[in-house]
Amino acid sequence: MKKTTFVIGNWKLNPSSLTDAVKLTAEVTKKYKADEQTVVAVAPGYLHIADVTKKIGRKAIAVAAQDVATEPMGPFTGEVSALQLRDLKVSFVIIGHSERRAMGETDEIVQKKIQVALKYNLIPVICIGEKDRDAKGDFYSFVEKQIKAIASVLTAAQIKKVVIAYEPIWAIGTGKTATAADVKEMQLFLFSTLTKLYDRPTAAKVPLLYGGSVKKENALELHKDGGMDGFLVGGASLKADDFISIINATKR
Ligand code: PGA
Repeated sequence: MKKTTFVIGNWKLNPSSLTDAVKLTAEVTKKYKADEQTVVAVAPGYLHIADVTKKIGRKAIAVAAQDVATEPMGPFTGEVSALQLRDLKVSFVIIGHSERRAMGETDEIVQKKIQVALKYNLIPVICIGEKDRDAKGDFYSFVEKQIKAIASVLTAAQIKKVVIAYEPIWAIGTGKTATAADVKEMQLFLFSTLTKLYDRPTAAKVPLLYGGSVKKENALELHKDGGMDGFLVGGASLKADDFISIINATKR
């Protein structure tokens, strides 16, 4: 049986108006043809989540949040909680994106966010990835450390409920994509690391995504030869036609 593929659009701090967010949702919703093997989600900004969800209506597109508070409720000014996201029918939450790690988010904070998300039935999409690549391959130990930090708080039953997105920082928003061979090597590394930490059947149940300058022009090759289970897409998810082309590339 064909494995499930995930394509998640991370809108980041875009677009600048609710009208444009709803318009983008309408275009994606109209053009997207759902099938059982593909999970598609969009991650608008918090303020746009309710209207985007309403616009999607009954169409099979899930909504993701771009972050979540470490606490479910209480005196935490400016935070948005897992409980509030569930209440708005959000299904996924991106955790530990490099842009948040650059603002000071540590592995400990990432661990807490993963736990709170799982507790309230949100699917964590946990981002990992190195800042730079070195010829010696030290970036593999960096990624391994991130995976171990995640695994240290998750049982085998729990790791099967998360999605891991490998997003090399040097490829995010830069137009520099990892080659399909780089992606394949990392997929094998992530799989073998998870196998060592858990076991093979458990590792096989964890969807692995690639993110970093995925475009309609490179999606087919990255998907075919990269061996991952889909993409986390930033910039290209802001154009409905491009996002749909990337989704379609994963179906071929
Ligand atoms: P990008 O962003 O596709 O614009 O490189 C990916 C991401 O940050 O999730």
